[in-house]
Amino acid sequence: MMPHLIFPLLACLCFFLASCTSPAHGETSPGLYPVVLVPCYTCSNLDARLTDEYQPPPGMPWCGAMKGKGWFRLWKNQTALQDPRLMPCYADQLRLVYDHTADDYRNAPGVETRVVAFGSTRGFGSDDPAMKDGENMFGANYDFRYAAAPPRQPSDVFDSDLSRIRDLVEHASRKNGGKPVIFVSHAFGGYLALEFLSRSPLSWRQRLIKHYLMLSRGDGGDVVILRTIASANAGPSSNVLFYANTSRSFASPLAALASPRVFGHAPLVVTRDKNYSAFELSDLLSDLGFSDVAPRYLRRALPVTLGIRAPLVLTTTVVGVGLPSPVRLTYWDGDFGKVPQVANDDGDGFMNFEVVSASRTVIDNEPDQGYFKLILLPNVTHYGVVSDDFALTRLVEIVAEINQSTS
Ligand SMILES: *[C@@H]1O[C@H](CO)[C@@H](O)[C@H](O)[C@H]1NC(C)=O
Ligand SMILES: *[C@@H]1O[C@H](CO)[C@@H](O)[C@H](O)[C@H]1NC(C)=O
Ligand SMILES: *[C@@H]1O[C@H](CO)[C@@H](O)[C@H](O)[C@H]1NC(C)=O
Ligand SMILES: *[C@@H]1O[C@H](CO)[C@@H](O)[C@H](O)[C@H]1NC(C)=O
Ligand SMILES: *[C@@H]1O[C@H](CO)[C@@H](O)[C@H](O)[C@H]1NC(C)=O
Repeated sequence: MMPHLIFPLLACLCFFLASCTSPAHGETSPGLYPVVLVPCYTCSNLDARLTDEYQPPPGMPWCGAMKGKGWFRLWKNQTALQDPRLMPCYADQLRLVYDHTADDYRNAPGVETRVVAFGSTRGFGSDDPAMKDGENMFGANYDFRYAAAPPRQPSDVFDSDLSRIRDLVEHASRKNGGKPVIFVSHAFGGYLALEFLSRSPLSWRQRLIKHYLMLSRGDGGDVVILRTIASANAGPSSNVLFYANTSRSFASPLAALASPRVFGHAPLVVTRDKNYSAFELSDLLSDLGFSDVAPRYLRRALPVTLGIRAPLVLTTTVVGVGLPSPVRLTYWDGDFGKVPQVANDDGDGFMNFEVVSASRTVIDNEPDQGYFKLILLPNVTHYGVVSDDFALTRLVEIVAEINQSTS
């Protein structure tokens, strides 16, 4: 999507945090709280290594060129993205497979991956030395292809991402005199952040999280992702995530599907013969030809979506409103390969406002939630929340208020 757009937020927060750093000693001021950032979908970089087990796609032996040559950049690799010969290799190495024996997603055979520069915001692709990275600003990078499974079902990569983030929060706090952290997520990072918080012991959360700041995210999923899943041609063929169904092999798009709890029975995908609401998404997946994915969606992704809970720490949500945002896709003649007719409603251009209001209901209905504030930014987009001047000015004010609040 637009990962580079997080940089203005990073730069801004870094400026804010650096203003509290004593240049003579490079030590953080006693009052400053560390910030841990969970970035958006596709914002974390990934490295890969090909082992002997790797089989290049048929007729493309050059895809195995990196075999045995150690780590290289898989996501995002601009060279491979711009080279039509390398694109199929890229797509093949990025895809996930479902291992029925292990009952879990894993990388394609012979492909090993790791997130780049975990703990550092450099993993988002930036290496501006002016940033106070690793002192009071930390990046909770994660492998965006994977997603949570319900308790007692395996989800190894997601679980190890969570436990690394837990260690990072503890490390950030220790490095800053034991102060709790301001935990910030952007867009899809909010899915991971909410799971992370509700899967951490309450006493741990209360001790180590000063405030959770959720940017551009409700907890109800979205309609945009349906388009990605429905239309093989949803994006340009030069986008590796669309190329050869790459992103359809990931666990995460299923996690982002519209929640029945939020969208109810409203038709989200309309054809002449059949409508699909959030309750019928497994039918939609089957009708799209993903009959193997549909049961997995019902068994793994949906229970997690329905089980989303309030974080039970002080929480502020910031979202854009006032822009047309997709609520319904019409493929009238039932041809999902075509560009759909899109009906819009109010939102941030990506996620509609109902989703955000519903997330407020979920959080407010939890008796123990306590402080929860929803801040609306007029005419600010899903990504503009971390890049528009107006939004950044507000965010820095919000972080300053959080930093100064004594609760
Ligand atoms: C953060 O809050 C502390 C007091 O809790 C204050 O001393 C410090 O100046 C604040 N920092 C900023 C940048 O507002
Ligand atoms: C990008 O990918 C190509 C081939 O897939 C590889 O040769 C190159 O080393 C990669 N770039 C980086 C920076 O790792
Ligand atoms: C993508 O998925 C569709 C539906 O399963 C299938 O018909 C098509 O062949 C796949 N495309 C590629 C390039 O694998
Ligand atoms: C599908 O939904 C549309 C829009 O709400 C409605 O007009 C239409 O009658 C529905 N079609 C079917 C087949 O249920
Ligand atoms: C939002 O944008 C619309 C269209 O550009 C404009 O008419 C409206 O005044 C703007 N609203 C705010 C609050 O800035």
